[in-house]
Amino acid sequence: MAREQTFSIIKPDATRRNLTGKINAMLEDAGLRIVAQKRIHMSQAQAESFYGVHRERPFFGSLVEFMTSGPVVVQVLEGENAVLKNREVMGATNPEQADEGTIRKAFAESIEANSVHGSDSPENAVIEIAYFFSGTEIVG
Ligand code: CMP
Repeated sequence: MAREQTFSIIKPDATRRNLTGKINAMLEDAGLRIVAQKRIHMSQAQAESFYGVHRERPFFGSLVEFMTSGPVVVQVLEGENAVLKNREVMGATNPEQADEGTIRKAFAESIEANSVHGSDSPENAVIEIAYFFSGTEIVG
């Protein structure tokens, strides 16, 4: 099975509550390796561009405001089937629908402040990783 990379964000609701280490432990316990990581404060332009696919959605303005409200931790995760594995350990977007044992079930505050983001496909992972990391910053 192919080793794969995915892109992950630990969102402002989680960094505010000092949950970076607990979330990283859940990612690692799921078999994912954190091969790049940095803590940044996203600019409005970065958040608008990153979430550009949601521009027409009613929650877009609020989402951008939330994602720029505090620091985030952007990450590259590597492993077999990393995209799917990360989506499994994250749980459903809406924490009310997230399974027991998932990050969002454990930590998410709402459908917006849902603690983590993860790429939804290998194709989008490549695009999202390149948005925040250069090749030399990723150390497998
Ligand atoms: P994420 O996986 O980062 O992708 C889009 C984000 O928009 C989502 O997680 C939530 O943080 C946020 N969001 C807010 N409201 C909604 C909604 N109704 N449906 C989907 N995503 C939402």
